[in-house]
Amino acid sequence: MKKFTLGKSRDHLFELVPEGRIKKMKIGTKTLGLVRRGSECFVFDAFCPHRGALLTEGQVNDRNEISCPLHQYRFELKTGKVKVGYCGDLETYPAILTEAGLEITMP
Ligand code: FES
Repeated sequence: MKKFTLGKSRDHLFELVPEGRIKKMKIGTKTLGLVRRGSECFVFDAFCPHRGALLTEGQVNDRNEISCPLHQYRFELKTGKVKVGYCGDLETYPAILTEAGLEITMP
């Protein structure tokens, strides 16, 4: 497991990741998506487990589910569980907001 910290502080992270927006980022060789709701952050694979569309171009609803722009399958951001659609779950990564920024744990 590897830990990465995004931002220099909690406030800096809030500036980098506006509430409810979907951010695309790279950590190592992985392309990831990030959504912040208040002080809760969700980090997930940027590519849809169905056919690989870019989820960061999708939409997040008020139940913290992301819908894919290609076929509108929906995934729960917290667990990655597929809510609408027929494919495997979305890969998600633990992310904890600390005073030093967002700590993301990668396998
Ligand atoms: S590629 Fe995402 S739902 Fe089909």
